[in-house]
Amino acid sequence: MRTLLLFTSIVFCLFLAACDTGPRSSIGFSLPDGDAEQGRAVYTQLQCAACHEIDGVPQNAGTAEPAISVALGGTVHRIKTYGELVTSVINPSHRLASGYAEETIQADGKSLMRNYNSVMTVDELIDLVAFLQSKYNLQKFTPTKYRGYYPMG
Ligand code: HEC
Repeated sequence: MRTLLLFTSIVFCLFLAACDTGPRSSIGFSLPDGDAEQGRAVYTQLQCAACHEIDGVPQNAGTAEPAISVALGGTVHRIKTYGELVTSVINPSHRLASGYAEETIQADGKSLMRNYNSVMTVDELIDLVAFLQSKYNLQKFTPTKYRGYYPMG
């Protein structure tokens, strides 16, 4: 009974989190389509490559002090939404990248990423997000282990 109660409360909390309609919810957020090619130019111009490596634009080693290397793009199992990417750029400390030793990407809970909010135009941000998004490949989960149960060929 206790377990059931705990389970129900967890599901309920998740439900509440997903349906957050308060003033800080992301409901209603929508970006216009950006130009990925332009975004690549913005990426180079704003020197994101000082700290990042992404397919097609190698990292400029030695340009960030201390040396930082966070990979962008690649294969993911869940799509990177533009809400997440915009947030990563304009409010990087909100959710830090996973898979890195803490001391290499943050100090006192704050991302070591440079702040661009007063130098980047909204058009640049939109194009940048289109560029970044084009670099993530979504790999659908294929339950190879249970292939016997899922006739997937
Ligand atoms: C001085 C170093 C530095 C520069 C320059 C920099 N970043 Fe970052 N960036 C970081 C660090 C450190 C992280 C990991 C911590 C975090 O998630 O904020 C990060 C994280 C990110 C993430 C989230 C990655 C993930 O897997 O969650 C994105 C997207 C990103 N940066 C984009 C950019 C873009 C676009 C630019 C250029 C406009 C840029 N960064 C410039 C240091 C930098």
